Amino acid sequence: SDYDLGSYANFMHKEIAEQPESVRRALLGRLDDRFGTARLGGLNFDPRDLRRIRRVKFFGCGSAYYAGQLGANLVEEWARLPADAEPASELRYRNPVVEEDTLYVAISQSGETADTLAAVQELQRKGGKVIGAVNTVGSAIARECGSGVFLHAGPEVSVASTKAYTNMTVVFAMLALSLGRVRDLSVSDGSRIVAALDSLPQLISEVLDGEDAISEVAKEHSGAERMFFIGRVRGWPVAREGAQKLKEISYVHAEAYQAGELKHGPLALIDPAMPSVVIVPDDELLSKNISTIEQIKSRGGPVIALTNAELPDGLADSVIRVPRSEPEVDPILFTIPLQVFAYHLAHHLGRDIDKPRNLAKSVTVE
Ligand code: AGP
Repeated sequence: SDYDLGSYANFMHKEIAEQPESVRRALLGRLDDRFGTARLGGLNFDPRDLRRIRRVKFFGCGSAYYAGQLGANLVEEWARLPADAEPASELRYRNPVVEEDTLYVAISQSGETADTLAAVQELQRKGGKVIGAVNTVGSAIARECGSGVFLHAGPEVSVASTKAYTNMTVVFAMLALSLGRVRDLSVSDGSRIVAALDSLPQLISEVLDGEDAISEVAKEHSGAERMFFIGRVRGWPVAREGAQKLKEISYVHAEAYQAGELKHGPLALIDPAMPSVVIVPDDELLSKNISTIEQIKSRGGPVIALTNAELPDGLADSVIRVPRSEPEVDPILFTIPLQVFAYHLAHHLGRDIDKPRNLAKSVTVE
């Protein structure tokens, strides 16, 4: 059963390994390759409803919030609608401006997170249209939202979210695609994206086949007491989720930073004891990310590059390779090796991976 560890040492490892299958479930019956779009049945939106949306706001806590940021980027990219993400714990208290033509997306694996539930209720009180992106059927947030998209990740036991996080991002890709296809996204771009999403399970399997190599890199760096995770634009939510995973289960101080912001302060922290994991997708910002690596190297900082590009020899100290996908889909795929990296680093340190100190699986009180 889902609650059976089988041959795995802990649930986090098992849930990482389940991702080809859980992503397949999230996609099942929802992709339309003929029209290059996605159909999310639980939304009950027809094209006119979709066109009425002028803005999208994602909210949730922790990793769910980071997944929302990835989703907001995709909505802006494909639908050209203004979109952003915010922690539910902020949204619920800051008296947000609520607009009728904004689609609010509540994100939660458990469906029971107190701050997220309270934000849903606050938005609804002000007339906001809220849908859920929830994993647990029948949970408080799913019921409160009334409509939404289930994540179909299956039960997630490990405190550190992996397969639920990934399915959030896959569901947001489908939401962004359907918003884009009732606007200016062409059928051919739509089909290109559908094909990329369809091949995700296979590409995730390829990442997992490289687990031993990632574990080696994690071992090499397991003496570090602090680490940077650096990304820009598409790589930024990847960096944040990568840092989140590492700090939760290894207790290494991990800080995510936007690449272009390094020189405005945090570069002062770079030294041989502070490795940086740099997210380097092979997209139009490749040369920018290569200069970021050079800036870090010239200050003596070790660099682990996470990339699907051919980097100049010797540029990075370690390289974690990611298979190629479509550039917009890269952030979904790039997060998987960072889960594996965090897992093995924590494992080398002998941490209690499924039950990290001070944390609960779902935070149902404030
Ligand atoms: C993820 O690894 C964390 N344990 C945490 O940030 C989590 O994502 C957050 O508490 C939200 O939980 P939820 O998705 O169940 O609402």
